[in-house]
Amino acid sequence: MGNRTFQEMIDEQKKGMPPVLKGDLTGKTVMVTGANSGIGFEAAKHFATMNPARLVIVCRTIAKAQDSIKQIQAETGYKNAEPMALELSSFRSISESVTQATKTLDRLDILVENAAVSTGYEYIPTEDGWETMLQVNSLGPALHALLLLPLISKTAREHSVVPRIVVVSSEVIFFPDGTIGSDALAAVNTLQTLSSKEYCTPEILRIRYVQSKILNTMFVRKLATLLPDNIVPVSLNPGFCVSGLRRKHENGDEAERFKKMEDEFGYTSEEGSRQIIYAAIGGKDQELRGAFTSYSQVLEISDWMLSDEGKKAEEKTWTEMLEVLNQADERIPQIVKEFLKA
Ligand SMILES: NC(=O)c1ccc[n+]([C@@H]2O[C@H](COP(=O)([O-])OP(=O)(O)OC[C@H]3O[C@@H](n4cnc5c(N)ncnc54)[C@H](OP(=O)(O)O)[C@@H]3O)[C@@H](O)[C@H]2O)c1
Repeated sequence: MGNRTFQEMIDEQKKGMPPVLKGDLTGKTVMVTGANSGIGFEAAKHFATMNPARLVIVCRTIAKAQDSIKQIQAETGYKNAEPMALELSSFRSISESVTQATKTLDRLDILVENAAVSTGYEYIPTEDGWETMLQVNSLGPALHALLLLPLISKTAREHSVVPRIVVVSSEVIFFPDGTIGSDALAAVNTLQTLSSKEYCTPEILRIRYVQSKILNTMFVRKLATLLPDNIVPVSLNPGFCVSGLRRKHENGDEAERFKKMEDEFGYTSEEGSRQIIYAAIGGKDQELRGAFTSYSQVLEISDWMLSDEGKKAEEKTWTEMLEVLNQADERIPQIVKEFLKA
């Protein structure tokens, strides 16, 4: 695929989004994070029309999830949605959310790691001390997905199905500034360097969202090499959509620029959500394993991600991320040992 200029991204946007796939999810359990807003909410509604046994609406608060469930029920008639709380800026909240999920769910067929944030160019540390976009968009979803692996694996085994772990990435991974940064990669600890206040100048924070989406796709690629064939991790591009994502860029020239772009060629969140549905139920399992999908097909990732430096970044950030997650939740070392190939 190579890299892509901004103009090429716009030209692709204007081609239009393929129609949504329809499937039958009878008996299956689907979980969507960030399901109260934008693309995640629209994806949840699409899933609701496919009759899953359970649809878990994961939001930062139960109240938000309950509001979302009311709307889903009003718009689709679906009655089996259930709320779950998850605050990705807190490892403790992620651990608690999964503890609850493993108590209440007996299977998990489709996990959609959709929630993410763009904080603009402000340095905001989380309660765990990480730069917010790094934790909420990358480390947090990785912890959440890995903690859910025993349930996903049990689902594959006991029901002879192939569950999917769907991670929402972005076309921004193809942008020319779509790299982790040679200086951060040369540092003893890349993730800690990326997160440190000194490193996070406004120029770095300008590309942090892009980096967080690169980390999403690297996570999926690495998982695919370590998971058995009966679990499919996949990352996807929903396209440039009108949603709540740019709400932190409310003022000034940038807000105007984004507004103009949204008016000119932005997809609706519903159109973007079709790509979550494709990654969750479309294509062939083995073609989608570890793949990046866009416009309902598998796309080769960026030149940088395929370069020696990109491959090194994938390995290094994976190793460092596991060290962080091992500390964040004591269940992780055993999960890695039991469910990922050595
Ligand atoms: N919109 C685009 O053009 C575009 C393009 C490419 C990729 N994406 C990706 O699409 C996904 C969905 O984004 P969206 O565009 O639909 O934006 P959105 O409308 O802002 O939705 C983001 C969702 O993530 C949740 N979230 C944010 N911070 C969280 C936290 N700390 N803990 C738990 N949940 C949190 C939000 O909850 P609250 O409502 O409570 O904040 C919301 O439900 C993201 O992964 C984004 O990177 C979007």
